[in-house]
Amino acid sequence: MRITVIGCGYLGAVHAASMAELGHDVVGIDIDEAKIAMLASGRAPFYEPGLPELLERSLAGGRLRFTTDMSAARGNRIHFVAVGTPQKPRENAADLRFVDAAIDALVPWLEAGDLVVGKSTVPVGTARGIADRLAESETGASLAWNPEFLREGLAVKDTLHPDRLVYGVPDGDPAGARQLLDEVYAATLSEGTPLVVTDYETAELVKVSANAFLATKISFINAMAEVCEVVGADVTQLADAIGYDARIGRRFLNAGLGFGGGCLPKDIRAFMARAGELGADQALTFLREVDRINMRRRERAVDLVREVLDGSLLGRRIAVLGLAFKPDSDDVRDSPALNVAAMLSLQGAAVICHDPKAVPNSRKRFPELSYTESLDEAVADADVVLVLTEWGDYLEIDPEVLARKVANPIVVDGRNCLDAEAWRAAGWRYRALGRRRMDARVGALV
Ligand SMILES: NC(=O)c1ccc[n+]([C@@H]2O[C@H](COP(=O)([O-])OP(=O)(O)OC[C@H]3O[C@@H](n4cnc5c(N)ncnc54)[C@H](O)[C@@H]3O)[C@@H](O)[C@H]2O)c1
Repeated sequence: MRITVIGCGYLGAVHAASMAELGHDVVGIDIDEAKIAMLASGRAPFYEPGLPELLERSLAGGRLRFTTDMSAARGNRIHFVAVGTPQKPRENAADLRFVDAAIDALVPWLEAGDLVVGKSTVPVGTARGIADRLAESETGASLAWNPEFLREGLAVKDTLHPDRLVYGVPDGDPAGARQLLDEVYAATLSEGTPLVVTDYETAELVKVSANAFLATKISFINAMAEVCEVVGADVTQLADAIGYDARIGRRFLNAGLGFGGGCLPKDIRAFMARAGELGADQALTFLREVDRINMRRRERAVDLVREVLDGSLLGRRIAVLGLAFKPDSDDVRDSPALNVAAMLSLQGAAVICHDPKAVPNSRKRFPELSYTESLDEAVADADVVLVLTEWGDYLEIDPEVLARKVANPIVVDGRNCLDAEAWRAAGWRYRALGRRRMDARVGALV
C-alpha cells in the first residue's frame, strides 16, 4: 500500500517508519526542513528507543522517504494526518491550525478513492468538519479517524503491536474505509489486536476519554498523597493495597510529581473546552480538579525541598536528576520535572540539572538553568538531590557511593521510585511526596 504520513513529530515519524516496517511504501512529509533532513539521513530528531534501527532498515530497503514537498502525496492511497494539536495560547482549547493547514495543502494532490486518515488528537466534531471539506473539494477522497494511543518511550512497540485499533468511519462506510485500513494494518490485525469500528465522534472521544481517565487515576492517587502527607500515612503502601483489588488495579497509581508531556495536560484542557462549547461542561468539571491536583504536586515538591533545607532555598546547591516528562523520552513539553527545577531556580537556589537525554530540549526551553551531562558533576557538593524523572539510570544509583559525593545526604524522591530503605540504610535522609517523614522501621524522624 502507498502511504503518506503528514507531520513527522513524535507520533508521525514513528508511524511512518512503522508503516514501512509493515511492508508499505511510505513518504513522510513535514514543513520542518531540519527535521526532514535528519529523518532522510536516518537520524531520529528526538529520542525514541528503537526508532533509529527502524529508520535505518526502512530507508535502506527503499520503502521509506521523507520530504517537505506535499506533491509527494500524489498517487498514494492512504494519507495519515499526524500534525500537532497544541493548546491555544491563553486558552484551554486545542489549536487546530496545523490540521487545517495540512488538509489545505493535501487537497490539491488527492484523487478519487484516496483515504485521508486522521491520527492527531482532536476535539470531537473535527472529523465531521474535515469530511465535509473533503466532500466539497470534489476530489472523491474520503475520511476516516484512527486515533493513536502510543506512549513515548514505547512508541515503536505501541505502533507495531497496539492494545487496540479504532476506526471512525462515516455512516454506511460508502468508500470502504474499513477495508482499506484493514489492509494497512493487516499484520497487526493478524496478531488478534482488538478492533473497534465506529463513527467519527466516538473515535475522537475514545482518545480524549482514555487520556481523561488516565489523568484522573494519577490525580486520584496524588490527592490521596496530599491526605497522607497531612496524617503521616504512606501513599505507596496505600496504592499497593488498593491496587490488589482487580477492579482498581495498581497501574497508573504511582503518586509523585504528576503527569505532563505533550498530550495529557493539553488534551484534558481541550476536552473541557470542547464540552463547554457543546453545553456539556458540567460533565467534565471534575477534570478541572484533576488538573489542579496535578499542578499542586509541583508546588508541593518545591515546598518539600525548602522544608528539608530548613526553610531557605537561597544559594543552596540542588541537583535535579531528571528533566523529561517521563523516562525513555527527551520530551520536556509541560514536564513537571523541568517546571520544578525552574521554580527552585527562580526562588534563589543554585540548580544543576541532569537528564540522560533531555538536556538539549530543556536548554532550549529554560536556557537560564545550569545543565550537565555528567551525573557526578550534577551531584558534586549538592545540599540536596532530587529525583524527578524515574530513569533506569537513577534507579541503579548506589546510594552509598553517591553519599560520598554530596555535601548533605538528603534525597527528595519526586516519583516514589527509589528504594527508601536502601537509601536510608546508606545514611540518606529520604523524603518523598505522600510518604511519612518517620522511618517506620526504626521509629525515628528522618
Ligand atoms: N506524542 C505522543 O505521544 C502522542 C500520542 C498520541 C497522540 N498524539 C497526538 O499526535 C499529534 C502529534 O503529536 P506529536 O507529539 O507528534 O507532535 P509534534 O509537535 O512532535 O509533531 C507535529 C509535527 O507536525 C508538523 N507539522 C505542523 N504543521 C504541518 C503541516 N501543515 N504539514 C506538515 N507537517 C506539519 C510539525 O512540524 C511537527 O514536526 C497531536 O495531536 C498529539 O496530541 C501524540
